[in-house]
Amino acid sequence: MNRAATIALALILSGCGVSHQSAVDAAGRQAGEIEELFWFFIVLLGAIFLIVIALMLGPLFKRRHGTEQERLEQTHTQSDQTERKLTHRVGWATGVTVLILLGLIVLSVSTGKSISGDNRPANALTVEIVGNQWWWYIRYLNDDPSRIVVTANEMHIPIGRPIVIRGTSHDVIHSFWVPNLHGKRDLIPSHTTTEWFQVDRPGRYRGQCAEFCGFQHAHMALWVVAETPAKFNSWMDRQLQPAPTPSDVVKQRGQRVFLDHACVLCHAIRGTTAAAEQAPDLTHLASRSTIAAGTLPNTRGNLAGWIADPQNIKPGNHMATVALSGEDMQPLLTYLESLE
Ligand code: CUA
Repeated sequence: MNRAATIALALILSGCGVSHQSAVDAAGRQAGEIEELFWFFIVLLGAIFLIVIALMLGPLFKRRHGTEQERLEQTHTQSDQTERKLTHRVGWATGVTVLILLGLIVLSVSTGKSISGDNRPANALTVEIVGNQWWWYIRYLNDDPSRIVVTANEMHIPIGRPIVIRGTSHDVIHSFWVPNLHGKRDLIPSHTTTEWFQVDRPGRYRGQCAEFCGFQHAHMALWVVAETPAKFNSWMDRQLQPAPTPSDVVKQRGQRVFLDHACVLCHAIRGTTAAAEQAPDLTHLASRSTIAAGTLPNTRGNLAGWIADPQNIKPGNHMATVALSGEDMQPLLTYLESLE
């Protein structure tokens, strides 16, 4: 096989090359059960497909004897017998089909039940996820209000601990789906759905909104970073901190630009007067790997492009275009980059 064909095959087998977003690379029990069910369906239905094709092709290659006239006469005398035989076979095939379908339904329902939220364990971490056109609001719930963390589009979770997702939507129906971790779960306005999963393997897993929710549905991704409890706790401790007070004149100017423009009407930066929740919380923007819900890597250049002309990057999104001069833009970028 030549190189191109090998690469193509590898890409197909690995789910278009995105191994970090793959339903057949389960990172925990719930996704594992879905994956097992998938392979069971593939093998069983694939085998049935092959058997049916073989049965259909069989008669084509059967040797026929005698002249056409003889065969017709023969067929005529045998037709009653043949019909009875055929009816018998079709009856059997229908019975077997119904049994297989029933078996698959039982298997699907029992898998769904086994991974559903009913048997949720007690020591779970509860995360609230709210779908928005087109980004993810993420809030870590805690009995102690001072330990509630709000972030967006990038979710850190500890491995080995059950994660309960309480999902809803702020506008239209979205669907929370991180294929390596769990099945799809619709996020419905004015309704809270609950699910839970556990991740056993550290890694970065890509999620994608799986329900068409408008023009930028495809640009509604999120990242789940599964890490050891120690790493998760230190991430959490950093997220709990408010944004640092700007230490030099450039960052001070950047913060003033942010607070004096329309940014402040939608975004929050804890530690400042910006406290709106219409758009992603930016308190620790620089700690996230992407901007615009997974649309672009979080680099200074991309951030500049996004602020200067968000409609060009993600047409139809709700971010306002704020006219900034270069002298305002550069300090703003420096300030935003300091929000780690
Ligand atoms: Cu949100 Cu599709």
